[in-house]
Amino acid sequence: MADSFSLNDALAGSGNPNPQGWPAPWGNQPAGAGGYPGASYPGAYPGQAPPGPYPGQGPPGGYPGQAPPGAYPGPTASGYPGPTAPGAYPGPGVYPPPGQPSAPGAYPAAGPYGIPSGPLNVPYDLPFSGGVMPRMLITILGTVKPNANRLALDFKTGSDVAFHFNPRFNEDNRRVIVCNSKLNNNWGKEERQTVFPFESGKPFKIQVLVEADHFKVAVNDAHLLQYNHRVKNLREISKLGISGDINLTSASHTMI
Ligand code: GAL
Repeated sequence: MADSFSLNDALAGSGNPNPQGWPAPWGNQPAGAGGYPGASYPGAYPGQAPPGPYPGQGPPGGYPGQAPPGAYPGPTASGYPGPTAPGAYPGPGVYPPPGQPSAPGAYPAAGPYGIPSGPLNVPYDLPFSGGVMPRMLITILGTVKPNANRLALDFKTGSDVAFHFNPRFNEDNRRVIVCNSKLNNNWGKEERQTVFPFESGKPFKIQVLVEADHFKVAVNDAHLLQYNHRVKNLREISKLGISGDINLTSASHTMI
């Protein structure tokens, strides 16, 4: 992780190393109409259903970077919102045809856009059929519990952990993010990041973008770190385990 680029990037400036938002400043995606690829409104992020009108989504006050409630048209009689910009949501086939309500139970344990929406039980596994690949963006929304000690994301192969992302709130009275891989049951060399954007009791958004050589992680729209792939066969990475002292609202992935 923490090569000179990302660390400098994360440490630069005012504490928000990425004031323009993320992922737009990575420079490898065209910006959409709202300034963000695949986003439907300024401040939105790809793959995220709009806040407000959907039960169970988001804490009061919303997530950092989210549009205020009411920015979207309310649900229609069928329970689905009116038209949105093309490309605002991931992929075809997620929604019923216009005007046709979905069959009862068609979206078990999922929000109206097929994105699981909270609360979700922790630990939670997000499966990746076919593994991960460059341009896959994983978005996790939740709230850190009061007096939290740790949380972890574990990108797993069968028995290995390809990428362990582990914010620790009190390691000898310090806050640190530990990244590592577990190969053949052995933890490797840790990569540590002392920029720590999580706060006990507060909502967060974690975005992990899979790129060819590394995972890139942003929290609350600010780039945080990157972690070079140690497991090179990305297709073996079949799930993301989410654990620790959080309330989990949603976990989803999309291609950008
Ligand atoms: C260990 C810890 C594991 C994992 C690992 C990362 O000390 O028990 O859960 O965080 O460090 O290197």
